[in-house]
Amino acid sequence: MIKLGVIGAGRFGTNILNTFSQLEREGLCELSAICDSERQVLEAQVKRYNARGYLDYRQMLETEKEINAVAVSTPDHLHREPALYAAGLGKHVMVEKPLDVTVGGCREIIEACREKNVLLQVDFHKRYDPFHLSVRQDVMEGRIGRIGYGHAYMEDKIVVPRDWFRGWAHMSSPVWFLGIHFLDLIRWILQSDAKTVYARGRKSLLRDLGIDTYDWVSTTVEFENGAAVSFDMSWILPEGFESIVNQGFKLVGENGIIECDSQDRGTRVSYGKEGVMTRNPVFINERIDRSGRIKYSGYGIESIADFVYNLVYLEKGGSLAGLSGGITALGEDGLESTRMAAAVHRSLESGKAETPER
Ligand SMILES: NC(=O)c1ccc[n+]([C@@H]2O[C@H](COP(=O)([O-])OP(=O)(O)OC[C@H]3O[C@@H](n4cnc5c(N)ncnc54)[C@H](O)[C@@H]3O)[C@@H](O)[C@H]2O)c1
Repeated sequence: MIKLGVIGAGRFGTNILNTFSQLEREGLCELSAICDSERQVLEAQVKRYNARGYLDYRQMLETEKEINAVAVSTPDHLHREPALYAAGLGKHVMVEKPLDVTVGGCREIIEACREKNVLLQVDFHKRYDPFHLSVRQDVMEGRIGRIGYGHAYMEDKIVVPRDWFRGWAHMSSPVWFLGIHFLDLIRWILQSDAKTVYARGRKSLLRDLGIDTYDWVSTTVEFENGAAVSFDMSWILPEGFESIVNQGFKLVGENGIIECDSQDRGTRVSYGKEGVMTRNPVFINERIDRSGRIKYSGYGIESIADFVYNLVYLEKGGSLAGLSGGITALGEDGLESTRMAAAVHRSLESGKAETPER
């Protein structure tokens, strides 16, 4: 039986816990234990999910020896240590994006997992969005021809760095927290790694609020296959914007153009004094099932469920090699997106084009 531990049970950890406990009800796994270093968070989640709780992941993994896989959902800059520790004990690991905020950290995690022959997966859920999958299919089949250029954007409302992650937003950036999703997605669609990046950004609005990080970063990435794609990454959209996130992309090839609005999927609502809001129900959707429980679906769930499906596949004798080349973002994919994001930050500092670190 697959026995799971979750390290970091905050806002997104809750989504992981919802997914794992849903799959537990389906008999695919068991949610054994939860770790969060904040007592209040831990106590609430332990009660809600009926699992054993630990303030320290080392203690959790030393005590709960039967746990064979963990999900790491600590803040962006705190993935490395728990991931290394779990891998060192031979546990399969899923890490929230970014795999790590350093290229060296990613390599260490990959190496630790390779040494123990365990799965290392990164939660890049944009790959599972059905709209994105259809774009990828078109590109893979050559319908729009050789891609020349494109543009992608991911932008959050200012409440995200200012209110949600006030404690650690200064250790992250709109590149690490948001942009990395699209850096991975476009790389995956193009099937090509980054060659050079050139970035511009500004620290102003958030710095004035006491949060020392970039408001926005705009970068151009030249890929090995010659395509040039620009990325706008920001987390200062006004509170009145129609959704918590704005996101999408376009790609232009020698035989066509594809545009994808990844935020506005066609539903517009307005009630009371609220302005018009748009929804993205294919991200995380809730409905009540026959037993009266909430049933979660959508690409934000599927991407996490894919970790459990991969564990089932391995348990039945599948090989790690059999997982490469598919939809799953493996350690190497996490490394490639971090190479891009780290080069973006270097370019912001140097003011010059930079090459991703080898
Ligand atoms: N896939 C996505 O779309 C998505 C969306 C949001 C966040 N995330 C990622 O998920 C991760 C967590 O983000 P969040 O929104 O849940 O943040 P959060 O601040 O709500 O939760 C992080 C939790 O980790 C706990 N924590 C910190 N250090 C710990 C440690 N050493 N051991 C155990 N617990 C520890 C904190 O107490 C907190 O409860 C980030 O890397 C973020 O980028 C992914």
